[in-house]
Parts: sequence; structure tokens; C-alpha cells
Amino acid sequence: MAGKIAIFTKADLILTLAGAARQGGRRVKEADLGFLEKASMVCRDGRLEWIGPHRRLPKQYARARHREVELKGSTVLPGLVECHTHLVFAGDRAAEFEQRNQGVSYQEIAARGGGILSTMKRTRAASTAELARLAQHRADVFAEQGVTTLEVKSGYALNLKDELRQLEAAGRLKGPRVRRTFLAAHALPPEFKTYEEYLEFLGREVLPAVKRKKLAERVDIFVEKGFFPAEASRRYLEKAKALGFQTLIHADQLSLSGGTRLAVELGSLSADHVIQVGEGEIRALAASETTAVLLPSADLYMKCAYPPARQMIDAGVRVALATDFNPGTSPSQDVNLVGLLARLEMKMTLPEVISAYTVGAAHALGRAQEIGSLEVGKCADFVNTTADWRTLFYSVGERSYQGVYCQGSLIN
Ligand code: NIG
Ligand code: FE
Repeated sequence: MAGKIAIFTKADLILTLAGAARQGGRRVKEADLGFLEKASMVCRDGRLEWIGPHRRLPKQYARARHREVELKGSTVLPGLVECHTHLVFAGDRAAEFEQRNQGVSYQEIAARGGGILSTMKRTRAASTAELARLAQHRADVFAEQGVTTLEVKSGYALNLKDELRQLEAAGRLKGPRVRRTFLAAHALPPEFKTYEEYLEFLGREVLPAVKRKKLAERVDIFVEKGFFPAEASRRYLEKAKALGFQTLIHADQLSLSGGTRLAVELGSLSADHVIQVGEGEIRALAASETTAVLLPSADLYMKCAYPPARQMIDAGVRVALATDFNPGTSPSQDVNLVGLLARLEMKMTLPEVISAYTVGAAHALGRAQEIGSLEVGKCADFVNTTADWRTLFYSVGERSYQGVYCQGSLIN
């Protein structure tokens, strides 16, 4: 069989996450991390062709002269999947952070024309090259932390021309694999009077252009009191689905606004934030294929409640974790901080955190067939560390992985 082969040999331990993947990322226990000791992997053209104990490595690979990377002394696990970022923007909102810290609310700042709209002004004014340069630096910061798949949203331009430029900038990123999401339904731009009118415009003119130019695979919307109302959001997302987009929702972050229920009803890939949810929403999520994406660093910055992760997981909801990196509610790219907060504030176990950042997040992106676990046929996306796996998501502010591989190639 033709193709480029690379062999990664003799890792002390590989956490394959195969058990977690088999369970669809639900109710994950330590044994589901899939421990393989003294193990090797064979990768052909970026995909895993074989994985198992080194002593069973088929002779044909050992004999031929392939690129070989020895991983003795290392623990290997799937590359992290960062499934919710607002990576492409210009400027910062440090002055608003200071105001919020002095007691002004996020909604008050937004009502005064700050918040998302202040980032909108800076983003519209930036060239595509500048947006791409800023975003590349941020993508590198994620890659350094073990991220091999990165979701990137638009949503800071809020008009046709510049939303497309944001997505084009995301399309130029090098390093991790990128999944692009169209989020023009993020705030009401000054050119429109009502959310309904703006959504109508997006559905009529912008969604078809994004589709035609293949600039995004997914459509997201901020369903929230004071932002997009659930009913108009439903019509918009139905239109997106009819055009062939997958959907997701920023749901029930600041108030119970119907976003989670809507996500389940529409068969959305994910409902993100899901903080203000009750038992009914949790039951609905558990019975669905919609992943709950939890974003605890935003909750830290917003000084709000954390999502009821324990109840969700125990009820059978599949959860993912992500940074929500953005200049307003989560100006942090620290994936270790996310995992640490999940453990400290949301009572998630370490195996649950590892699964949420791999298998759970792969589902949130609709890519669980390809990424999230290390199994034959899936992408050879992995990280290696000389540390014990039990020390993951324990410290913040330091590099956790020595090697970061996307499709068998070192990206960091
Ligand atoms: O995920 N909630 C809406 N969107 C972002 C915040 C964006 C911003 O404030 O710039 C979020 O928290
Ligand atoms: Fe967000």
C-alpha cells in the first residue's frame, strides 16, 4: 500500500481514550481513558494505521525504513480539541474589564455601545492581513498548549464584507486544524434597528455568501435576554440548516432564555455556556446528541455561576470544555486554567476533564469519527509529555506537552 508512513514507538503509556469514545463521551471513568503501556503507533498519511503494545508491532513496519520517532519516557494522549473560540478580532477590552470590576455589568456596558460593538469597530477597521497576523499568534499559543484542532468564530464585524474577511483570516491559519463558525448573530450592529431585521438580512444575504464561498461549516447565535430572542433565532437556524450548515447556540449564559431547549430541538451540535439551566434542560440534553460546551474561564471573568457540570454528567449529558477565548468575557487562552476550574469549581474528575477536552469536544465539532481518541482510522493527532498523566490540568502557567503532532506532523 502506498503512502507516507511514520512510526511513533515505545511510549511508556498511551491514553487512547477509546473507552470514552465508545461511550460517546458520556459518564467517563478512569478505565475509559484506555491505558496502553509500552506502546507504539503507526501513522500512514496522517491517519493511525496501527496502535498497540510495542512487542506486537507488525514486523513489516519494524523492517522497512520509515520515519521513526522514539517516545520512550513519554505519556501520549490525543491532541486537545479547543471547540469554542472567538479568535479573530482586533484591539482589547481591558478598560471595560476595569469598569466591570468596579461594578458596571456586562449588559450595561453593551447597552452603552461598548462590549461586542467596541470590538466590532476595531475589527472592521483592521486589514485582513492584520487580522490574520493577530489570529496566527493566538493559534500558536493554543498549539503550544497541545491544541491540534481549533474552532474559530467570526462575529466581530457584523456586516457582509467584514464578517467574510474574518472567516478568510481564519482560513489562513497554520498549525492546528481549523473549524470555522459563522457568528454574525452575536450582537445587533448599528445599521439595524431590530434583531429580527438583522437576522432576516443575515439569512437572506450573508448565509448564502458564506456557503457559496465555503467560508464556514457551522452557524452559531447568541440567544440571550437583551440579545437574540429564541423565536427569531429558531427561524434563522432553520434557514442555516436548510443551506447545509451545522448549528450551535450560545445558550442560557446570563439568563434562562430558551437557547438550550432550542439547540436540542434543532439537533444542534452543541449548546454552549449552559449555566442557567434547570432539570428539564439537563434531561433534554442527556437524551440528545447535543454536547454541552462548558466555558469556566468566562464564568471566572464574569464572576457568575459555573454550569451544573456534576448534575449534567451524572444525568448522562456529554460535556466538552473550552476557553471561549475572546476580548470581553474570557481574555484567556489558558486551557489548563479551564481544566483546573472544571475540577475546582465544577467538581469534575480528571478523567472527565481529559475526555471533555478530547472526545467531548470532538463531538461538539461533529468530528468524533476522526479526532478525539487514538484509534485505527482516526487522525494521528496527539501530544506527548514526560510528566505523569495525573499531573495534567493541575498547574497553570506552564507548558504541559513536549511534542504536539497534528496528522503525524510536529506542529509545536
Ligand atoms: O461567549 N456570549 C457571547 N459571546 C462571547 C462574548 C463576546 C464578547 O464579549 O466579546 C461569549 O462569552
Ligand atoms: Fe463564546
